[in-house]
Amino acid sequence: MIYFDNSATTKPYEEVLDSFVKVNREYYGNPSSLHHYGGKAEQLMTSARQQIADGLSVKPSEIIFTSGGTEGNNLAIKGAALEYKGRGNHMITSEIEHSSVQNSMKQLEEKWGFQVTRLPVDSNGMVCPDDLEKAITDKTILVSLIHVSNEVGTIQPIKEIGKMLKKYPKIIFHVDHVQGAGKVVLPLHDSGIDLCTFSAHKFHGLKGTGFLYKRSGIRLEPIFTGGNQEQTWRSGTENTGGIVAMAKAFRMIEENRVKKGHSLLKVREFLYHELENNDHIIVHTPKKAAPHIINFSVPGLKGEVLVHALEENGFMISTTSACSSKEKTPSQTLKAMGVSDEMALGAVRISLSYENTRTEAVQFLEALKEVIPRLKSVVR
Ligand SMILES: Cc1ncc(COP(=O)(O)O)c(C=O)c1O
Repeated sequence: MIYFDNSATTKPYEEVLDSFVKVNREYYGNPSSLHHYGGKAEQLMTSARQQIADGLSVKPSEIIFTSGGTEGNNLAIKGAALEYKGRGNHMITSEIEHSSVQNSMKQLEEKWGFQVTRLPVDSNGMVCPDDLEKAITDKTILVSLIHVSNEVGTIQPIKEIGKMLKKYPKIIFHVDHVQGAGKVVLPLHDSGIDLCTFSAHKFHGLKGTGFLYKRSGIRLEPIFTGGNQEQTWRSGTENTGGIVAMAKAFRMIEENRVKKGHSLLKVREFLYHELENNDHIIVHTPKKAAPHIINFSVPGLKGEVLVHALEENGFMISTTSACSSKEKTPSQTLKAMGVSDEMALGAVRISLSYENTRTEAVQFLEALKEVIPRLKSVVR
């Protein structure tokens, strides 16, 4: 099988699995325990935190370990909204956010009386920074934007927006960097980011681990309360093995980005060019986008039919995002980009890792050449 579904999740690196097993076998103490086993676990966590912070050029105290992207987004958005509600009740986001952002916002609207502006996007899936600035009111307390779209790979102009937001010091800026981590560089300080979400299973770490960057001085109302771990921001016994494994994955994906980034780009360019020039296919991803995601439709075919047919040929791909791929409604992201319902229902996403090769891409294109006419003749 050839795995082209790396935006849904990635295969954990072998070294990551080894770390997880070793820590859980040998250093299983609770990091909060006073004895030697606890001390060792705490030490491992401290060095994992330092490694991650060094990788981002931030302070270790600015890293909060979480269970992943959904929790990070919930903690950032609900935590900031509830903490700063005395300043105002208005938040700004976009129409193409991951469901963990969309539904956090919706809950704050429905249960807590917040008001949310959802910015439209253009046909490339881009938010317009001017629209964002126009949406700001004296009640705005939070802007939350996705960096790299999980569905189409569009990269938002985060640095430009962060620079503009510096004029509004009352506003907290949160970025969902789950799909960008290890693929598209995002300098946190230079981009004026206050809160930034990461999820380990998207960069070859393990599911159930992640972290939230929280700039010093920003406060959050905790979502999990309990034993006051993670400097009180996130209670719950830390997943020491998962955290050590995540720090390793984070270092390795960065090394791969430097070493293999160019070859990933070449594979993506080749695939993009071939798909774009195939008369049966409409590519939804803009030409200039993240190096690992391409979203396209075959008019007349349903996305799920294409996914299953390609699976029979040895390829794992997705319809839209993994979280919503079992829903039969058209992708909100594609609809926001102006794609018709019919076309959006037919969309599929391929998402690459640094391990995928041009040979695999060639095999994929050959499979498509065989599958599309066959399916079309059945539909007809
Ligand atoms: C952009 C984005 N944000 C958040 C998440 C949620 O992350 P997790 O699966 O770690 O909860 C995902 C997962 O697909 C995502 O793509």
